Amino acid sequence: MSARPYVIDEMISAKAIAARIEALCREIHDEFDGTDKLVVVGLLRGSFVFIADLVRELDLPIEVDFLEASSYGDGMESSREVRILKDLRGAIEGRDVLVVEDIVDTGHTLNHVTRLLASRNPARLKSIALLDKPSRREVDFKADWTGFEIPDEFVVGYGIDFAQRNRNLPFIGKVRFIDGPA
Ligand code: IMP
Repeated sequence: MSARPYVIDEMISAKAIAARIEALCREIHDEFDGTDKLVVVGLLRGSFVFIADLVRELDLPIEVDFLEASSYGDGMESSREVRILKDLRGAIEGRDVLVVEDIVDTGHTLNHVTRLLASRNPARLKSIALLDKPSRREVDFKADWTGFEIPDEFVVGYGIDFAQRNRNLPFIGKVRFIDGPA
């Protein structure tokens, strides 16, 4: 929990997120149309709201699985070493896989996770991130689909936290400290 007081300024409205998800799902549907073996993999915990909206918009036969990788801990700085805290329940060999992430920031997390899953020989492996901060990238990684590119701001809401708070906001907001710059 941050000791510094902050406010949250809305950056992307719930309505804009819903409209973008609808458009993304049309593209995802075209990519996976005809498959009967799609596994949608949510990265815990930040993607839990996004994946819930995404799968309900996808008119395809799917299974849902989850994987948890270490990331920020309770702070605002990314840890470069990615560890798997909770692995998938099911095998993905020969399956079509869509990995769902909340934000691509330095790129370490999704880069590591997609390499790991690729080593398990899925038939097809694609990734989607709701948000992308390209200016923060440290490894060359781009998700196959991105909801919104955003500037280098610390954001919360729609599943995304700051020190485990604010995941339940229906919109994406940026954290603004009120006692000076972050
Ligand atoms: P990366 O490995 O640096 O790409 O970091 C990805 C993870 O860092 C995301 O899944 C988030 O959990 C976390 N993260 C990155 N940016 C933010 C942010 O602005 N707010 C909250 N969490 C963030």
